Formats: sequence, C-alpha cells, structure tokens
Amino acid sequence: MESDIEFYGFLISRYEYEEIDKISKYLFQRTKHRPTIGIICGSGLGGLADLLTDKDVFKYETIPNFPVSTVSGHSGCLVFGYLRGVCLIAMKGRFHPYEGYPMAKCAMPVRLMKLMGVKTLIVTNAAGGLNKGYNVGDIMIIKDQINLPAFAGNSPLRGVNDDRWGVRFPAMNDAYNKDLMKIAKHCAQELKIDRFMREGVYVMTGGPSYESVAEVKFLSNYGDAVGMSTCHEVTVAHHCGLKVVGFSLITNKCVSDYNTKEVANHEEVIQAANERAKDFERLIESLVEKCNKYEEFLNKRKSINVTNGH
Ligand code: HPA
Repeated sequence: MESDIEFYGFLISRYEYEEIDKISKYLFQRTKHRPTIGIICGSGLGGLADLLTDKDVFKYETIPNFPVSTVSGHSGCLVFGYLRGVCLIAMKGRFHPYEGYPMAKCAMPVRLMKLMGVKTLIVTNAAGGLNKGYNVGDIMIIKDQINLPAFAGNSPLRGVNDDRWGVRFPAMNDAYNKDLMKIAKHCAQELKIDRFMREGVYVMTGGPSYESVAEVKFLSNYGDAVGMSTCHEVTVAHHCGLKVVGFSLITNKCVSDYNTKEVANHEEVIQAANERAKDFERLIESLVEKCNKYEEFLNKRKSINVTNGH
C-alpha cells in the first residue's frame, strides 16, 4: 500500500519502490506491449493517445493502487499501443498537485514507466504565454524549467531517497535532452510547422488559480510559459535516468496589464489546444519515430564500444 511517512514533521504520501513494482507487474500480466517511449498528454491533447494502434487501455480507477484524475478535459487512462511501429505508453490525463495529491503521488506514473522499460519521456502541456512574443497556438519546446513548488519545499523527491531510483541530489541543468530538442526542431521543419515553434523556459505554479497581473510580471522576468504541471514529472524522470523532451502548447496569453478586460479561463485553454491538436499530433508522431531511431543508434554505439573494450 501507499504509505505516509513523516519527514521533519511533514507527512509525505509516497509510493515505495515495491508498490510501483507491483503495479508494473499487474500491467505486464495484462498487456503484451513493452513500451520504450512514454507520453504524458496535457490538457486537450489526449488525442495523442487515441492515435495509437493495437491499443490496450486501462482506466486509472481499474488499476490497483493508482490515483484517479479529477479534471474535465483529462479522461484518465493508461494506453499501451503502437505509433509508427514504436511501442508506447501514454498517460491520457495526468495528476496535478492542485487536485489535492502529494507531489510524489502525482509523479508516480513516471516511475511506473521506468519500471516498464521506458527510456524516453515526452511531456506535453497546455500553458499560458508569458513571453510577449508568443501567440496562442505556438508550440514551445521546453529547454528548461522553474519548479516553483520545489522552491517552497514541495519537491516530488522530498523524503528519504531510494537509491534504486536515483541519487539524493540530482543535477537538473541537463534535464531536457539537447539531442531530442534538436530532433524535435528537425521534425517541425520537415512538417513545415516551424513558423509557430518556440523554445523557452516553463514555469510551474501550484495553481489552480491563474496568475495575477503582478505574478505574470514577476514570472515573465524568468520564464516564457506558465502552467500547473510537468516540472514534478520531469524532475522524477530525470532522477531515474529517463531522457526527457517537453512541449508547451500556448493556449492563452497571460494578462500583464491592469486595464484589460480579458480573463484566463479553462474553456479558452481547451479550445486553443483543440485548434492546434492536429499539428501537435503530427509533430509527436514524427518525433516518436525519430526518438526510436536515436535510441537504436545509441544502443548500437554502446555495443560497438563494448566490443572494442571502451
Ligand atoms: N496559467 C497557468 N496554467 C495554464 C495557463 C495559464 O495562463 N494556461 C494553461 N494552463
């Protein structure tokens, strides 16, 4: 069972390695798929998971000891299947801290992916544009992150470290894989969608309220897009050795002017995501194929080095 542990006076609800291992065995017994790439579908981007063929779908509520997502626009299932011949696992619906879950619980599925054989994680989200040069519908390749909840002590890695996942103090300067970022840019060029591609820094807030004008002014000094997800997942993914590539779909411009009548709202976010969803799906499809080739290339290089005694 998931257990609560006490750490410097905080109660932290976390999953032990063995509990996640048990979930992975439950799934291994029920699907023949062995995914090497994981995808987390952001708000309004669940269509990515629908693209898979030969699907095995597990609703979150049917998986023992799995959290259940509560946000509309996130329907909540793990989908195993194939995209362009590559075996994938997709999370359709993710867990946000504002739903009331502890960070470690929100990020647990990333560790599950690791135990199921995933090497590369593709994270996607809907985000507000902080950068004044960004437009609704732009796709930002995430080059770095600001994990604001972790600034305040709320890291998914808080608590006793289990070395089977990773080290106590992981570096984060290389969390977003530079090779995969290059590959993503290449895919966008091939698909001729590079005119609305951007590259920038993603800021995670705890939500669920959107940002005040003062907060937008503050955040836009440091970040290009803001949302309520992703950083905890990427932190956990990098900690356990997954390669990460991430994208923010800019669904609204953050309001940085006291005189405007505009207000951010969830319907606007979902509508903007839906309008760009097809391009986004084509990008991810192409990226999956190339990530797989890249992994094969790395494996070949590794085996040549081993044969040569390096
Ligand atoms: N702020 C925070 N999260 C978001 C936004 C935003 O403007 N848009 C989509 N998710």
